[in-house]
Amino acid sequence: MSLVKIKKKIKDIKLKSDIVNPYQQLINNFPNIITKEKIRDLDNLILEVGCGSGKFLTKYSQMKAGNFVGIDTRYKRLVLAANKSIQFPNIFWCRSKAEEVVELLNKKAIKELHIYFPDPWPKKKHIKNRIANSDFLANVKKKMVKGAKLFLKTDDLNYFQFAEDNINKHFEILVKSYDLYKESAIEEASTEFENMFHKKGMKIKYLVAINTD
Ligand SMILES: C[S@@+](CC[C@H](N)C(=O)[O-])C[C@H]1O[C@@H](n2cnc3c(N)ncnc32)[C@H](O)[C@@H]1O
Repeated sequence: MSLVKIKKKIKDIKLKSDIVNPYQQLINNFPNIITKEKIRDLDNLILEVGCGSGKFLTKYSQMKAGNFVGIDTRYKRLVLAANKSIQFPNIFWCRSKAEEVVELLNKKAIKELHIYFPDPWPKKKHIKNRIANSDFLANVKKKMVKGAKLFLKTDDLNYFQFAEDNINKHFEILVKSYDLYKESAIEEASTEFENMFHKKGMKIKYLVAINTD
């Protein structure tokens, strides 16, 4: 569907109903947006937590084998993600909190987990909302195969240090960089926020860890 067509559909939905978020209704038009219960049946999973509008995962799904699933809480971003990847049979999207999806998965279902530019929640009283918290990482580890990898990128130094401390408790860190693009060009499969921060000259912090259990 073209973006113009999506905008037209959103306008029609707004006119016909008093629905608060018209994208909520539009997700039913996309068979590649699936419920969290459907993800439970998949293995060989490459999950992206907080996938936004799907730029990274759509590209990445064409670079290797696996069942690709992007999870986000925002309806509009998922509609955009589903629309750009509709022709690819190995990629799905789910509107949910990532914590709830992980809870449902079978043991050893995940082979890669990607967390890119998670909401930073800078205020002290909001730190409990950060996705890279120790409880979430402990839960997700239970669902990962031995040798599964976790990838994290952020522009936020404070968040990076928080995530690194927690990841260290459950995984072995293989790669760590405070400036991913110091010597190389931006990666082919990059995210929207990554491109935006990189263009502004901000340093991208990057980490890869492995599940050794
Ligand atoms: C700053 S955006 C980054 C989007 C994308 N990863 C990128 O780099 O372009 C963070 C995304 O995480 C999503 N998000 C926040 N908390 C989440 C949660 N608990 N489960 C799933 N997605 C979440 C937000 O809706 C938002 O789209």
